[in-house]
Amino acid sequence: MSQEQEVAARFKEVFGRPATVIARAPGRVEFIGNHTDYNGGAVLGAGIDRHVWVAVSRGEPGQFAFCSDQQTTVRTLAAGTSTRQTGALSWLNYPLGVWLALGQFGLSQPADFNLLVHSDLPSGAGLSSSAALELAAGLAFLQLAGAPAITAQRLAELGRHAENNFVGVPCGVLDQGTIAFARRDHLVHIDCMGPKFSTTPMPPGLRLWVFNSLTKHALIDGMYAQRHAECQQAAKALGVELLASLTPAELAARAGGLPPLIAKRARHVVEEHARVGQVVAALAANDMTRVGALLTASHRSSQHLFENSTPQLDFLVDRLVESPGILGARLTGGGFGGAVLALARPEFDAAGAQAVGAAYLAKFGRAPEIIPLQVADGAQLV
Ligand code: GLA
Repeated sequence: MSQEQEVAARFKEVFGRPATVIARAPGRVEFIGNHTDYNGGAVLGAGIDRHVWVAVSRGEPGQFAFCSDQQTTVRTLAAGTSTRQTGALSWLNYPLGVWLALGQFGLSQPADFNLLVHSDLPSGAGLSSSAALELAAGLAFLQLAGAPAITAQRLAELGRHAENNFVGVPCGVLDQGTIAFARRDHLVHIDCMGPKFSTTPMPPGLRLWVFNSLTKHALIDGMYAQRHAECQQAAKALGVELLASLTPAELAARAGGLPPLIAKRARHVVEEHARVGQVVAALAANDMTRVGALLTASHRSSQHLFENSTPQLDFLVDRLVESPGILGARLTGGGFGGAVLALARPEFDAAGAQAVGAAYLAKFGRAPEIIPLQVADGAQLV
């Protein structure tokens, strides 16, 4: 049975009627561009072949009903609920936030619905399961309401609006933008100043691997918001609206007056934005050794300047970069736990990956989750 058929069967079993619409959105990796997005910088991301599915039908009048693989009890809310949910109901904030955002964007909303979520994308790994859920829910709701299709950019904005304003995470456009624009065997390039979105082919013959450390900082959302605030503090002190409008040389000339910690945060963002440009150039020149070195340099900057890495992520990067066939490795996403992305030549295979996993197990008493990735298409109706 395909995943779609499984979702349809499960929907019927839970809600006693067939799903009207099924949508699917991939997870994403941040190829490079760490905490550059909300600073007006550039990022490269890719959709991955792990997905979140959202199936919906109209529901009981006046009611929203939700169910997922993890939360198998059906939860109901009064239609139009606009209060943020907490505890075991927190995951409802993603579809609920998107439903509210549809109204705020002047788009059609279904008056009531039944909604089922199915996923083979690990959550808490920095692979954007929340953004995938938002975008799949957005597509499903629009179709259920009989609304015309919206552009990928509008879909990304809708999901980000829900995340910023309802879920309450001050994220940039990387996750939703990558998932909306993702294309098989392509990287998504986002110039977040515009924002402007484009895709560029993934060089053939390279592989992406994810090593999920299976750890995350208990205060992960707070740490993200703190870094966001530190970047704003740096921009204000430097007299710019967005940090990425400065070149590394301009920052070096002006950073003297900043508190040392704030200067480190700013240096990470400004140099990381420049590194994304260098990766784009190295990809165009087919210089994969350089691309890999830039990825690893990005991790070192996270580790020492932005301080959003962890001993587990650093260990994985250290082991990976000394493994034959690995071109570069870095933490992917917000940091403070989650996963490492490795760029590899084909000679890095399952045996090489297992050797890294075994070293991690010996050190931390727990094996990492190892995922070889295919680069996949973006959010779509199925
Ligand atoms: C998370 C956020 C993104 C981005 C990355 C770090 O994934 O949701 O907007 O800031 O962290 O680059």
